[in-house]
Order: sequence, then C-alpha cells, then structure tokens
Amino acid sequence: MLSSLRRAATSVAPTALRVTARTQLQQQVALFSAAAAKPAARVARPPADISGYSSQVCAILGAQWGDEGKGKLVDILAQRYELIGRFNGGANAGHTLVVGGQKFAFHLLPCGMLHAGKRNVIGNGVVLDIPIMMSELKKLHDAGIDTTGRLVISDRAHLLFDAHKIIDAAQETALGGQNIGTTKKGIGPCYASKANRNGLRAGDLLDWDLFVTKHTTLIKALQRQWGNFAYDIEAEQARYKAIRDQLLPLITDTNYELHRSLAEGKTLLVEGANAAMLDIDVGTYPFVTSSATTAGGISTGLGIPPRAIDSIIGVVKAYTTRVGSGPFPTELLDSVGEGLRKVGGEFGTTTGRPRRCGWIDIPVLQYSHLVNGYASLNITKLDVLSHLETIQLGVRYELDGQVLPPGRMPSSLKEYSRVKVQYESMPGWKCDISKAKTYAELPVQARNYLERVEQLVGVPVSWVGVGPGREDMVTKGFEKQE
Ligand code: GDP
Ligand code: IMO
Ligand code: MG
Repeated sequence: MLSSLRRAATSVAPTALRVTARTQLQQQVALFSAAAAKPAARVARPPADISGYSSQVCAILGAQWGDEGKGKLVDILAQRYELIGRFNGGANAGHTLVVGGQKFAFHLLPCGMLHAGKRNVIGNGVVLDIPIMMSELKKLHDAGIDTTGRLVISDRAHLLFDAHKIIDAAQETALGGQNIGTTKKGIGPCYASKANRNGLRAGDLLDWDLFVTKHTTLIKALQRQWGNFAYDIEAEQARYKAIRDQLLPLITDTNYELHRSLAEGKTLLVEGANAAMLDIDVGTYPFVTSSATTAGGISTGLGIPPRAIDSIIGVVKAYTTRVGSGPFPTELLDSVGEGLRKVGGEFGTTTGRPRRCGWIDIPVLQYSHLVNGYASLNITKLDVLSHLETIQLGVRYELDGQVLPPGRMPSSLKEYSRVKVQYESMPGWKCDISKAKTYAELPVQARNYLERVEQLVGVPVSWVGVGPGREDMVTKGFEKQE
C-alpha cells in the first residue's frame, strides 16, 4: 500500500490501489484537520465563522509564500468591521486592491484606510518606516480619501530608519548568490535592533531629547557593527523633527485602546502581511522574513489575547508563487510557469520583481493550517488557471522514500531540498470564469478543483477570487452580503 502512496506523478497505479491510497490519505487528512482546527478540544465550541461576517475578531492570513491576495479579502470584509489592524512586518508587504477599476497599493498602512470612517491600527509587532507611511497617507489624500483621525500607531511599534535599509542591502550583497532576496526595506535589521534591545519605538518620539540621544546611540552602534557606513544622523533627526507634530497625535497605547474597544463589543479585522511560509519561526528559514506572520504573531503584534481571535481565514492562491530565494518544491521553470506569471501578472507589488510560479502545494497548506488553524480558505486567482488543459496539484511530499503525513514539514533546507512532490492531475475548464457571480456559475471542473483542495487540506473553501476587482469574488456555503 505504501508503494502506491509513493508512486511518482507520472506512473500509473492500478485503479484499486489508487482508490485505497486516496481513501487512506483522506482519513489521515480528516484526523489531521480536526486536530489542527481545535487541538485537544474537550469542550464544545461554537461553529467557526467561515465567511468572516460574524466574528468580533477575524484574521486574514497568507497561507503560502505571500501575495495570495490578502488585501482584497481585507478590503471586502473591512466594510463590516470597525477596526482594521496590522500586527507584523513593515513596508515589505504589498497589498494591491482594485476598486472601481482604480488600483491602490498598500505597504505599511492597513487596507482599511480605504474605507471612510474605519479606524486603522498599526500594532506593536509592525516595524514602522515613517517616511513610507507619510507618503502612503499622502497618496490616499491625493486620491480624495480623508484619513484624518483614522490611523493610530502603537507607541511600542519599532521605528525603521534608513540605516536599517543600508544594512539590509549590505547583508544581501555580502551573501552573494546565497542571498535571501529581501525587499531591501530594512525589515531584518530593524527587527534585529528590536531583539538587540537598542531599537527606538514610536513612543520615543514623545520625548524629543530622548529620541535624539537614543537615535544617535543606535546609529553609532550600527556603524560600529557594520563598517562605519556614511550617514547623516542630524539630517535624519531633522526630518523626524519636521513631521513630529503630525505624528504625535497618532501615537498611542493601542494595546489598551484595543482592549477597551473589544470590551465595548467593537469588531476588529486583522490584516496579515507576508505569509506562513515566510514566518521567522515556522517558515523556510533562513529564506523568511523577520516577523511572526502566523496566528501567534497576532496576539503579540496587536496586544490581544489569543482567545479573542474568533476566526482565521487562510488566503490561498489557486497556484503558488514566491518572490526572492528559497525552496519551492512545486515551482515550474517551464512555459507553464511562464504562462502563470504572464496571465496572473505575477510581478511584486513592492519590488516589481517577477514572482516564481508553480502548482498549488497541498503539504504547504496542510502545514500552514496546522500552525494557523483556519476556519476557512479564500482561494484567489482561480481565473488565472482558466487557460490550462490540465491542472496539477502537489498532493504529497516524499522524503527519502517515505511519504510525509499531512502537516509534516521538513525544518532543514537540506531535507526540504530532497523532497519529491507527488502530483495529481485534474482537467481544466478552459473558459472564462471572470464573470461568475455565484459558486454555481463556476464550471464543474473548477468546482471539482476547489473541492479537491478543500478535501485535501480539510478546511472548507469560503471565498473564491475570479478577478482582481472588489466585486470579483464568489462565495461558497453562504450568501454574499453587499
Ligand atoms: P497580498 O500581498 O496577499 O495582498 O497580494 P498582492 O496584492 O501582492 O498580490 C495579489 C495580486 O493579485 C494583486 O495584484 C491583486 O489585485 C490580484 N488579485 C487578487 N485576487 C485576484 C483574483 O481572484 N484574480 C485575479 N486575476 N487577480 C487577483
Ligand atoms: P505580502 O504581504 C511576498 C519575502 C521577500 C524575501 C523574504 C524576506 O505582500 O504577501 P524581507 O524584505 O521581508 O526581509 O524579505 O520575504 N517577502 C514577501 N514575499 N509577499 C510579501 O508580502 C513579502 N514580504 C516579504 O521577497 O524573499
Ligand atoms: Mg503582496
């Protein structure tokens, strides 16, 4: 039986064996999934909110290597929430929204800024590049969006300075061919200052003299460590001084504000940045970002208890992409991958780099579900697969002749590089699905694909993206509320 599980993608196993292997896998997935969703649950829990419509706190997290389309679901759900919060990362994120044919790219600000009257929170866990934030605020203002009084910044969020970007670039250059392929936004070095406990936080701006002292000390320490790079400390301080009066009203104890808001029954939508496989702890280290991108990061990054989070929706691209270096077992280095890049417009929102493309990777989704415990999945960019005759799904990993059970992910790059992917093929639908308004309007092959993903990951699909626009999303298992 194991040998049938181990079969290569192209070999044909006898039908009976195929069925048995499939059944066995489904049993494994069912057990795994139940445990991932509610570990050792001994008490009855309310049914999970699959739509994101009925949670007090709902989080939208990337389930792969980023750019799954988190921003779009946040934008759709933001209409129903009072607060929208970012808990991790910085301006390395790039969330593109298409609203009324107009494109908006968010990096540091939560996508909720697009919605009049919504309060947006930049939490403790974010690293804050203030000049980038100011330019994003200006762009919104220029687009006629009033941002006044709608943004608050945690006084505990760390400040990211130009020095962090200089070091990011220098580290990448030093790594040569082994580089991480960072966004060069200074993310790693800023989190390093935070962990080193000599970083500056937004709250330090409240006391200008202290800010100047701490800033000078930090930059000098970084210069000592990184080869005395040229830096105009006073010029950077002058830039901060010039905008300080605009910033001070935004800086507050957001932990306390969120506590009060939740106690009053207000609702919070959590906007994930980056994604599970880029998480500093559980991702494909060292080819990761430097923050906690997964469920645990929500709690520390926004200062809310884990129990406050009612539901987590995992955002999954209908195929897989990755920007930057690092392992990618289902990567397609051929014309099929090139086709996905072209049709899907797979070029980074932040850096413009071409994204690497490949088939959907079920073990990655099973693993990220194990870590995040998804209530449901938002499958995005299904329309991008419409030109394909057949679609492959990477369904299992085999490592040194052993099939890895669902949820098992090698932690070492050496092991991960030895993983062989076993694929299943499904027929494509070969027609335009971008006008579909309901799940039932999707062709049967497209529904079969979604339901196979659902079955393999053991998590229901709730939202399905069929185009980039806010309206290009169909729902499964519930009615869309406008
Ligand atoms: P994020 O970082 O997870 O928010 O995702 P990005 O914004 O970096 O990348 C997703 C890209 O796909 C953006 O350009 C979106 O406008 C686009 N997009 C999102 N959902 C869909 C979809 O269902 N179909 C298509 N064709 N494009 C989509
Ligand atoms: P969103 O929120 C895709 C990747 C970078 C690089 C690695 C480390 O748009 O999904 P960093 O600058 O964070 O130190 O880079 O992580 N990366 C992302 N890839 N989407 C993102 O964010 C990413 N944020 C970081 O490409 O490989
Ligand atoms: Mg992105």
